[in-house]
Amino acid sequence: MNAKRKRVAILISGRGSNMSALIAASREADYPATIVGVISDRPDAAGLRAAEAAGIAAVVVERRSFADRQAHDAAIDATLAGFGAEIVALAGYMRLLGADFVQRWQGRMINIHPSLLPGFKGLDTHRRALDAGVRIHGCSVHFVTADMDGGPLIAQAAVPVLADDTEDSLAARVLKAEHKLYPQALAMVCEGRAAMEQGRTLIDARGMVERNAAQVLFAPDLAEESVNIEDLARFTP
Ligand code: GAR
Repeated sequence: MNAKRKRVAILISGRGSNMSALIAASREADYPATIVGVISDRPDAAGLRAAEAAGIAAVVVERRSFADRQAHDAAIDATLAGFGAEIVALAGYMRLLGADFVQRWQGRMINIHPSLLPGFKGLDTHRRALDAGVRIHGCSVHFVTADMDGGPLIAQAAVPVLADDTEDSLAARVLKAEHKLYPQALAMVCEGRAAMEQGRTLIDARGMVERNAAQVLFAPDLAEESVNIEDLARFTP
């Protein structure tokens, strides 16, 4: 066990597959984080059951139980204090957090977003990527600031957009990349190798070779995506 593991809490609203990826990573002997608890704003979030099955404390803090966003945020903050959380990882948490809460956790709260930011902030990222005709799509992990999906970037993973992609096939390819990227990015933050300073991310790359620095930024691997060579040949000039 790594004695200096950071205590990380995860906020979810739904399926929780990124949460599960972080929990799985935290079970590795040399991973620098331990997952101390999960909070969901939705009682029906499937991720709650997955957290419980993994033996992790899972708490529902519903918005409608509180008069306003500030009171809801305060209840989340109190739950985080109860967990003894040092770092917060948003994993499909689909509610905006208030400015005070964000300020309080600034530099200690990260989020994963299903696009290559600053492109496609907000919702329906895969549909919009297809509509825009981009050939490369992906996911980003960033520090959370008051600017929605606009905080300093920590790590990004890219995937190709294939000719026959649907919203679902593209989402599945990005999600696979998310599950690899998020544990790497969280590890960087927990080890102090990625830190937010004056609105930017400072990366300390020393010692990253052993952990495979290349895993921090993924590039499209066409071989992995079983591209039909005949399709490619059609486009060769
Ligand atoms: C993930 O694709 C995550 O990037 C996205 O929601 C999904 C949650 O899936 N987050 C956002 O869109 C935040 N703006 P999961 O619950 O299976 O991790």
